[in-house]
Amino acid sequence: MINVFQPSLGKEELDALQQVFESNWIGRGKKVVEFEEKYAKHIKSSKDLVLTTTCCSEGLFSSMHLLDLQPGDEVILPTISFIGAGNAICAHGAKMVLCDVDPHTLNARAEDIEKVITPKTKALLLLHYGGIPCEMDEIMALCRKHDIKVIEDANAGVCSFYKGKAVGTFGDMGMWSFDAMKILVCGDGAMLHFNTPELRKKADRWLYFGLETKSGYTNSVAQKWWEFDISSFGHRAIMNDITAAMALEQLKKLPAYMKRRAEIHQYYNEHLRQFSWIALPPVLPDYVETSYYFYHIQIKNGKRDEFARFLRENGIYTTYRYFPLHRVPGYGVTGEFPNADYAADHTLNIPMHQSLTDNDLEFIIEKVREYDTICK
Ligand SMILES: Cc1ncc(COP(=O)(O)O)c(C=O)c1O
Repeated sequence: MINVFQPSLGKEELDALQQVFESNWIGRGKKVVEFEEKYAKHIKSSKDLVLTTTCCSEGLFSSMHLLDLQPGDEVILPTISFIGAGNAICAHGAKMVLCDVDPHTLNARAEDIEKVITPKTKALLLLHYGGIPCEMDEIMALCRKHDIKVIEDANAGVCSFYKGKAVGTFGDMGMWSFDAMKILVCGDGAMLHFNTPELRKKADRWLYFGLETKSGYTNSVAQKWWEFDISSFGHRAIMNDITAAMALEQLKKLPAYMKRRAEIHQYYNEHLRQFSWIALPPVLPDYVETSYYFYHIQIKNGKRDEFARFLRENGIYTTYRYFPLHRVPGYGVTGEFPNADYAADHTLNIPMHQSLTDNDLEFIIEKVREYDTICK
């Protein structure tokens, strides 16, 4: 089966792991600090604004506490969002207010967000769909005007920039995921970004039980270093040197991954445009850089599900991200989201990862051609 997403791991990661084993320290240590420093540089930010954690979902849940959101506060979320984002808002007792999206990029636009702003709106939890940057100039201006905090879910946008600035670094808080299906992978892990060092410090405590002092050798207390106080009933969600060592190797490989992903994107564009029932992903403005995380097409003839089944039966796995939250019965949300409905019923994410071979790509196009003759 050709996978829709797939990590690339090799000898470099194994060697790095061996070094961690030999160091006799596998918890949070030097490798985590090094990864934070290097990732901060990669996103053109600074190390006092970033912090690793166990996963991006932890970042989503923690954002509610870190940004002082209160029960009953309204948080706007594009209906095409990751389920963890919806859960984070609802679990906190805040009110999830969904907005519609652009039917083709699947990103929320300022006009979609503006329609659902009320005096109770306190935050926006924005998704950069598949690493495609949202229109940040307009969105940030709107949020500043209404004093709305911005949380960016840039989970797949490891190499996504808007006018030269990394997505995830515009808002009060942003985050990237390094789970098993992302581009930069380390098993599980994430990077958080904050707009002030103070917020980063608050997060640092929150993600380690709310402890005021660090345990271990880094503790500077001269005596009774086992005594402590807490500033919050915080979590324990820290990265360790095993995952950080892998992440550091992956970070070095990002340019090569991006080159291959761009080639695949281009190959699909060239070979799929001949099928009139397929709409290609939108052409992005030249002031953005994407991470090519998804290659999402839209099936215009109403046969998306049949096409997905045909590909699957022929060894090609596809999927659709993300099932709109207004259709998840457990949230009990009502309202009209026509663009998101269109996207959810027509979009298909086809295989996109740097390990796809030229043979894989030719095979995929051959099968699409075969389906084209059948469906006519
Ligand atoms: C858009 C989006 N946000 C957040 C997450 C959560 O990431 P993690 O798996 O690191 O918790 C995911 C995971 O797939 C995602 O797709």
